[in-house]
Formats: sequence, C-alpha cells, structure tokens
Amino acid sequence: MRILITGANGQLGLELQRTLDEDEVLATIRDQVDIENRAAVSDAITRFRPDVVVHAAAYTNVDGCETDPDLAYRVNALGTQNVALACAQVDAAMVYVSSDYVFDGSKGAPYLEFDDPNPISTYGRSKLAGERYVQMSLRKYYIVRTAWLYGVGKNFVRTILSLADRNGEVLAVTDEVGSPTFARDLAEAIDKLVRHPVYGIYHLTNDGSCSRHDYVKAICEAANRKVSVIPITSEEFLARHPLPARRPPFSVLHNFCASNALGIRLRPWQEALASFISSENLAIPEHKQ
Ligand SMILES: NC(=O)c1ccc[n+]([C@@H]2O[C@H](COP(=O)([O-])OP(=O)(O)OC[C@H]3O[C@@H](n4cnc5c(N)ncnc54)[C@H](OP(=O)(O)O)[C@@H]3O)[C@@H](O)[C@H]2O)c1
Repeated sequence: MRILITGANGQLGLELQRTLDEDEVLATIRDQVDIENRAAVSDAITRFRPDVVVHAAAYTNVDGCETDPDLAYRVNALGTQNVALACAQVDAAMVYVSSDYVFDGSKGAPYLEFDDPNPISTYGRSKLAGERYVQMSLRKYYIVRTAWLYGVGKNFVRTILSLADRNGEVLAVTDEVGSPTFARDLAEAIDKLVRHPVYGIYHLTNDGSCSRHDYVKAICEAANRKVSVIPITSEEFLARHPLPARRPPFSVLHNFCASNALGIRLRPWQEALASFISSENLAIPEHKQ
C-alpha cells in the first residue's frame, strides 16, 4: 500500500513509520507539509497519490488549546479539513486520529463508538470539529479515537519519572480515569485496520483502565522508582496547580467495533507499559545511566 503520514515526528507518527515498514510510506513533518496550508497539503497528497493517509498531526497541548483556541481550531479542525479534502481529490482513505476528550466523562461507564460526544475543552471541541469535517468530506474514513498516549518523546510517563527522580514523591489524582495507550500498539492496530475497507468510528486504546494515581504507581513500580505516590483529588490538585483546560473525569473507551467486527484487540495497558519502559531503558534512573 502507499501510505502518507502527517505529523510523522510525533509520538504516533514515529511508531507508524516503524510499523508500516512493508508499505511504501511518505512520512511528512510540519516543515514539508504544514496542515494549515491547504495548497501544500493538496500538493503533497495529489503528487504521492496514496491509498491511505494517516493523519496523526495535531495540536495536542490541551492547556495550550484552551489559551489559544484559534490555533487549536486552525490545526485540529481546519487542518483536518484540508487533509480530508485532499484525500477526496485522489480517492484515498483517511485515518483521522481523534481523542477520548470528545466525551465529557459523565457517563460513568466506558464510552462506545455509538455514544454522543460532548467535549468540555477547546482541545476536545477542536478534535470533534475535525471528525465532523472528515465525515462530511469523505466516504472512506476511519476515525480512530485513542487516549493517554505515550511513546518516544515528551509524555506523561517521562514527566512522572523525572518528577520522581527530582522530588522523591509524586502527587497523582484519584478521580480521573482513562486507558493509557502505547503509541506502538496503536500504530500496529492502525496497520491492521487499514487492511480492511470497513470504514467508520473506532475506539483503539490498550485494554483496561485506571486512575491517574494507579497509573503513576504502575509507572514508578515498572521503572524501579521507590517513591511515594500521594493520592489527591482533582479539586485539591487544581487548587495547588491551576490548569486552564477541564479534563473528563472518566474517559475510558470501549474498543467495541474493532474487536467485534475485525478481531483487532490491544494488549492490557500494564503489559504495554512494562514493554515501553524496558524498551526505552527507563527502568534505570537517568542520572545512573
Ligand atoms: N497524546 C495524547 O495523549 C493523545 C490522546 C488522545 C488522542 N491523541 C491524538 O493522537 C494523535 C497523535 O498524537 P501524538 O501524541 O503523537 O501527538 P504529538 O506527539 O504531539 O505529535 C503531533 C505532531 O503533529 C505535528 N503538527 C502540529 N501542528 C502541525 C501542523 N500545522 N502541520 C503539520 N504538523 C503539525 C507536530 O509537529 P511539531 O513537533 O513541529 O509541533 C507533531 O510532530 C493526535 O491526533 C492527537 O490529537 C493524542
């Protein structure tokens, strides 16, 4: 297959490049194809004529989106529209990577692909606007919602380990629940998904769920950090460290469609986390490496 990737230097983009090694891949970064530039996007896609475009580029800073909504909507909504319109020009299928933050987190049970979104942050609203542009521009699309992504680069796992090494203790909230997802596992699931012309919305996360507090404990244990992980409520945390954007309290995604229709399942999040920490050599504290 001929596959074009946007956002190829991001956490998911890097894993897609590694995973799709049997395909003819054009991996694009912002300097080559700025998704805000409709002509540049159209030019890249019509020249390469891909079978599939995996659109992994996004403005992913959730608090940054809240303070600069114009940028959030330009990249995540209009940028996605640019990619979708270019896919339509060459009849390419499009994978749009979306987010658990399209939900408000009030359901109290894992979200199905059939549940109605109701974002509570600008990031979530801009990602949902991207979904809508994809749906109105194309017939051949996969909207892949994922959550709590980590991989190569800056992410929650690395932030927690550096806080643990610096402070010897970490505060972690008990009332925010989701599904940590290894970007490599998501890339492998997307690799399988695009072999099936079965279009629609898919939830793809590692299996299972946890609170941020359970997650931080698991990170520190897997990486051999003997530190205290202090439970705290979101309200207490925000009183100490105010953040501009609201987060959904419970954004677990039920991976119903990929599992039932296509037999695509991701491993439990604990296994994926252990594999990431050993593959990245994070089990040894940085200052001792
Ligand atoms: N990270 C998460 O926890 C999470 C959770 C749910 C869903 N998602 C979704 O999953 C996808 C992949 O996330 P990720 O964690 O891999 O993101 P990431 O590491 O932040 O990578 C995003 C990439 O997009 C690029 N980009 C930003 N603006 C661009 C523009 N105007 N033109 C071209 N490229 C641009 C960035 O380039 P620069 O480096 O030059 O800025 C970066 O390489 C995104 O769609 C995100 O919304 C992520």
